[in-house]
Parts: sequence; C-alpha cells; structure tokens
Amino acid sequence: MSIQQEIDKRRTFGIISHPDAGKTTLTEKLLLFGGAIQEAGAVKNNKIKKGATSDFMEIERQRGISVATSVLAFIYKDKKINILDTPGHKDFAEDTFRTLSAVDSVIVVIDVAKGVEEQTEKLVEVCRMRKIPIIVFINKLDREGKDAFDLLDEVEQKLGLRVTPLSFPIGMGYDFKGIYNIWEKNINLFTGENKQTISEAIHFEDVNNPELENYIGETAAETLREELELVYEVYPEFNREAYLNSELQPVFFGSALNNFGVRELLNCFVEIAPSPLPKMSDERLVEPNENKFSGFVFKIHANMDPKHRDRLAFIKIVSGVFKRNTPYLHVRLDKKLKFSSPNAFFAEKKQIVDESFPGDIVGLHDTGNFKIGDTLTAGEKLNYKGVPSFSPEHFRYINNADPMKSKQLRKGINQLMDEGVAQLFTLDLNGRQIIGTVGALQYEVIQYRLEHEYGAKCSYENLNVHKACWVEVENEKDPEFLDFKRVKQKFLARDKENKLVFLADSSFSLQMTQQKYPNIKFHFTSEF
Ligand code: G4P
Repeated sequence: MSIQQEIDKRRTFGIISHPDAGKTTLTEKLLLFGGAIQEAGAVKNNKIKKGATSDFMEIERQRGISVATSVLAFIYKDKKINILDTPGHKDFAEDTFRTLSAVDSVIVVIDVAKGVEEQTEKLVEVCRMRKIPIIVFINKLDREGKDAFDLLDEVEQKLGLRVTPLSFPIGMGYDFKGIYNIWEKNINLFTGENKQTISEAIHFEDVNNPELENYIGETAAETLREELELVYEVYPEFNREAYLNSELQPVFFGSALNNFGVRELLNCFVEIAPSPLPKMSDERLVEPNENKFSGFVFKIHANMDPKHRDRLAFIKIVSGVFKRNTPYLHVRLDKKLKFSSPNAFFAEKKQIVDESFPGDIVGLHDTGNFKIGDTLTAGEKLNYKGVPSFSPEHFRYINNADPMKSKQLRKGINQLMDEGVAQLFTLDLNGRQIIGTVGALQYEVIQYRLEHEYGAKCSYENLNVHKACWVEVENEKDPEFLDFKRVKQKFLARDKENKLVFLADSSFSLQMTQQKYPNIKFHFTSEF
C-alpha cells in the first residue's frame, strides 16, 4: 500500500466531554463496533473516583490505566481509527489540551439533561482556536433532558459553534422512540423490554410517507415531521468543506449506554472526518505524504516500575514512515537516536511495530531524552509548534525536605516537569523554585512520585500568585521594559526554557501592569 493510501485510511481523534457525560461509555461502544473488544466493561474508567480510599492509590491506579488507554486503535470499514484518550478530571486538563495537539478531529459528548458544562466549554474553546473539526454527540436520550432545539441553541451560544443536526430524536426519556438519521435518511427504532435491542434501520427517504405512523404512531410521526421541517428551515445544510474548516459542526443524538445512535455516529465519522492533516512547523508546512519521517512528542508516561526509570514518550507521526531501528534526529538535542522496540497500540494492547504511518501514535522507550513538544525527524531541523504550556492556576514554593537528597530532588523535579505534570518557575531575585499546576491534586502526585520514584522528599509553601504570564517585548532595551523589570523584580521568574514570566499576584495588579506598560505583551500560554 502506498503512503497516501495509508494516510487516507487513518482517522486520529479525541473524545472530549465534561466528566460523566459518557466519554468512557462512548469509547467503549465505538471499540465494540470496531470488533476491538468483545464485551462492555473492558475499557477501564480513566477517572479519579470520588471518595477513593487514598488519593495516592487512586493516582497510581489512574496512571496504570492511562497507559493502557492512551491510544485505542481499531479498524472499522477499512479505516484505521486511533482514539486518543483525554483525561476527564479537570486537574489533568493540561494533559487533555496537549493531546488535542495530536488529534485531527474531535467528538464532543454532551449530556442531554445537563447541557453544555464548564469543562466542555474550555476544551471546545481550545479546539475552536486550533480549528479542529468537531462532531457533537448528545448523549443519554433514554433519560429526560432538555428539548432538542433548546440544546442546539445552547451548544451554539455557549460553545460558539454553528451546528447542523445530522440525526434527530423521536421523543426522549420514557417516550424515547428512536432517531431519524438525517445523514442516511432512515429511522432507527429504540425497542425491546429494556430498550437495549436495536432493530435494523428502516429506510425513510421521505418522512411524509404515511408508513411512518405504523412505526412510531400518529402523534410522534406528526411531531417528527414538524420538527424536521424546522430543522431543514433553520439549520444550514451539511457541507463537508465547512466542517473540515471548523465552520460547521454536525450533531448526532443517541444513548451510548444503550448502544443507540453510536453506529450512525461512527458511520458518518469515518466518511467525513479528516485523515491526517499537514502541520505547521517553525520552518514550513509539512505534508503527511512527504517521504521523510517527522513527528512530535505530545505525552510522556513514566514507567510504573520505580526500579526502571524509563518512560514512554508518545509521538504523533506527522509525515513519512516511522521505521524501527532507524536513526532519527532529536532536533532539540541535535542528536541521533534509534529505537529498537517502538510500541504501537491496538485495542488496549501494546505491540512492537516495524513501521508506522502519519496519524499513528508510537510509544518510544526513553531514558530522559524527551520533553513534551520535542520534534523528531529524519534529519531536517524543524520544530512543531502547538504544544504550549498554559498559565497554571495554583502556585507553591517547593522546598527540599531532605538535604541529603538534593541531587535526587533536582533530577526528579526535572523529569516530572518534562513529563508535563506541572510547570517549574525559578524566581529571578533569589532562585527559589515555584511549582505551578492546573489542579491542586498535582502537588500530591509530585510529592508522592518524588518520594517513590526518586527517593527525594519535598515540602510546599503557599505563595500568592494569581496568574503566570509569559512576557514578550520587541526591544529589550526599551526604557519601559527596563522600568518594568526594575519595578516588578520581585515578581519575575524564568520557566524551564528560560523564558521570562511575570507572576501577577492579583487580577487587579495584572490589569494595572498591562495598562502601565503598553509596549509589553503578556501571554497566558507559553507559545505566542
Ligand atoms: P465520562 O467518561 O464522560 O466521565 O462518563 P462515563 O462514560 O463514565 O459515564 C458516566 C455515567 O453515565 C455512567 O454511570 C454511565 O453508565 C452513564 N451513561 C453513559 N451513557 C449513558 C446513556 O446513554 N444513558 C444513561 N442513562 N446513562 C449513561 P455511572 O453510574 O456514573 O457509572 P457506572 O457505575 O455505570 O460505570
């Protein structure tokens, strides 16, 4: 098969949602359709359970699972589907943001009763900024929820999307009768004792066909006809180009738990979702079908065995063919590395592969060479952008609690930061180290892992920081910048790349600083 054929076959995407909307359930049902698993319950729930025995145990359990579910691949209708797992817990949101740099499209799951929730808003905003094509799946139609039109309005308003339904529910909750599939022009009835059985779809090119009543009854048929009329009137016709350009988002309805509406979603997905796309590097746009391999690291997973401190770096292949035992250039280190046992993922299993193609994810064993965002190529010096750090929301000083182990502590902190667990800032004034995280849970993770994997102990000290902003200025000699550095000396730090960061102690002081120094730009992500 040619590389172009391999590329055309691939669909690499992520499922995002607010916790509990049904991401895990949907993932599992997609795998069932792909024949990748035999029974429901096989996909482990990669989320922090409420009220778990101990947070550490829970974190370790979660880490164990997240390796297994990092990439779930299967074949469906001749397409190789790669689902990249995104943690639902908000304390791990940064992990999800980074994973979004490696997907070519996403499916957003929304709970029909809860509508658009906070986490969904944040994640969709990132997708919109990056123009990632989005399909919306409204889940749990077997339960009472919001009116379909109200929900579509909410999705448009809160998520800033322009939607077009490709399926439409017939009733809801107790009265849920099924779904009219606008995309395939058929009806899927929700039947059976426990409403679990799916009958074959019944073709209905025209819902005005009086036969419809025999299936769903007179009242439901009437309502459906009216609603569909409204759908055709109000929403734009589906247009693949617009979807791919992130200007139009198709919506499906269903119930993942009941396996309902999932096949329709998948059938449409494989047809419309993009195959691996070209990616911008700092040098040029790189096309997937170029001969030479290139890829970037979007996730690093530490080994669960503390005795072997090796890690698995997850690389998304952007162009060319990745081959086993072939030397590739690690651009940041300007060093050639080769990999004797690259892992590919299939269903929930890892296996060693000889070749991987654009869109695929390979896991490379690493002894400390990789950081998130690193680029690997066949020799060309280029760097992929788009794996930025976001301004953390929590800040604490980190102190060494065991002076005999300062070397171990330094190493541990460095490696955990490379993995992207949190961000390290070093104060200009006195060299004190500050750990910034997205969620409070990460502090426990760091403390626990430093102790168990590196034999080092740390303690934290509170620190009042509202936001970290990356500082950009055109001319470093600008008197305004010099004044800023002098006045704000106490609040200046360096990130791991030695970039200048302003640690604002309140939103008010940030605002005042921005006003006072108009020539300086303050960024909330590390890439600008
Ligand atoms: P998440 O990964 O997005 O966090 O959600 P997950 O799939 O774990 O689903 C959250 C809860 O919603 C689960 O129930 C799940 O069974 C339920 N659920 C998912 N899809 C549907 C659906 O279509 N209809 C209904 N009625 N429920 C659905 P749970 O009780 O929290 O967990 P579990 O004990 O069933 O695993």
